[in-house]
Amino acid sequence: MGDILVRGGTVVTAEGRRRADVLCSGERIAAVGEGLPRPAGAEAIDAGGCFVLPGGVDPHTHLQLPTMGTVVADDFLSGTAAAAAGGTTTILDFAGPDRGEAPLEALARWQGWATRAAVDYGLHMTVSWWGERFAREMEPLVRERGVTSFKFFTAYKGRMMLPDEDLIAGFARCRELGALPQVHAENGDLIEYLQRKLVAEGVTGPRGHPLSRPPALESEATLRCITIAEVVDVPLYVVHVSAGDAAQAIARARRRGQRVVGETLPNFLFIDASVYDGPDFDFAAGHVMSPPYRPREHQAVLWQALTEGGLSTTGTDHCCFTREQKRAGQDDFLRIPNGCGGVEQRMEALWHLGVSSGRITPERFVALTSTNAARAFHLWPRKGSLQVGADADLAVLDPERTRVLSARTQHQRTDFSVWEGLEVRGAVVHTLARGRHVWKDGDLRAEPGAGQFLARQPFGPVYQGVLG
Ligand code: URP
Ligand code: ZN
Ligand code: ZN
Repeated sequence: MGDILVRGGTVVTAEGRRRADVLCSGERIAAVGEGLPRPAGAEAIDAGGCFVLPGGVDPHTHLQLPTMGTVVADDFLSGTAAAAAGGTTTILDFAGPDRGEAPLEALARWQGWATRAAVDYGLHMTVSWWGERFAREMEPLVRERGVTSFKFFTAYKGRMMLPDEDLIAGFARCRELGALPQVHAENGDLIEYLQRKLVAEGVTGPRGHPLSRPPALESEATLRCITIAEVVDVPLYVVHVSAGDAAQAIARARRRGQRVVGETLPNFLFIDASVYDGPDFDFAAGHVMSPPYRPREHQAVLWQALTEGGLSTTGTDHCCFTREQKRAGQDDFLRIPNGCGGVEQRMEALWHLGVSSGRITPERFVALTSTNAARAFHLWPRKGSLQVGADADLAVLDPERTRVLSARTQHQRTDFSVWEGLEVRGAVVHTLARGRHVWKDGDLRAEPGAGQFLARQPFGPVYQGVLG
């Protein structure tokens, strides 16, 4: 792999910005400074007028996931290629054991699929059931296999939902091992109650989805998990925060000094619950994900938490389906596969909504799209930084370039986009992934298998580095 000199851009990190060149030598950043000489044979990228950012770290994707009787549309190759086209160079996906299946077996299956990834990836483990064997296998996962974060569910009753006593035992096991518990927080018992009620009333369409998952159910479960984590004395990572009260609960816990890291999605900052109201099934079903899109007033609370530090990361929960796949729930909203895409649009959408609109600084953008996730999941400074010696993962973003986001032009393997028609100001024109020039102004050069598995270290007893 040759050298690449990124010249004349404004280099932005979570701490500040400066005019500098970045020299990538092989897979690493070799120098950052003004007027760097171009080594013989080095490729030069002109970043004049552009921002040079750490490559995005998307801490929440679901590629190749079998779920709800189907398999998500993006596999590890198409999903990571799409990520690269949008400036994201690291993803963290979830290995998910079937009920009763050994976590190590699930990990082997996911690692088999992920060998085709085009950018680097790590894996969290979904705690899809709980028992003595699961608890035992967490040790080799954390100590030998580089899987140091575990996602618990308080929702999806009858599938992945765990009762409080299992959450307590699981969080405590994470603490013993120096692993980070994550939580999908919605009250699954109340969701089931509301689902039954709505079905009995004859509600069959997508509108039943948000009606059965109101914001209070997310806030309750979020606070419950924060409380469990506080008592067990373990940090907590809350995925896909969509409800304002849930964001405020996290912000309050952080102000008290509790180590809680909250993730939201750019989608939740822009799209509201009205998407479920219209007569177009494909459009409404295309937005069915859990938690659902919320009434517009929640967005201001999420923005406040993002700007003030109550929320720390942005992921996508990238979980793509085609329109045809979503039609499995044409007559029954409970059968609409849950999930939306976005790994390709996260960086441009957040830049447009956040930076171009003046809500957040480029530095905060970097914190929210790479640095904080890299810190929370123990990948920093290899990922999420532009330090000498870090992986040569970077995105060159032209703040004046506009692009219309659309399913017709995206690389995600679906015919639907929740961002359809949005014209963003600020576009990723180059992406380097561990020193490879994978996105060159519209030319996607993703290579199957070029991505490496990121084996992560346990945090140790004091969880240094879990900052966000
Ligand atoms: O609807 C969603 N979010 N599907 C993906 C699985 C999950 O809950 O994260
Ligand atoms: Zn979830
Ligand atoms: Zn998810």
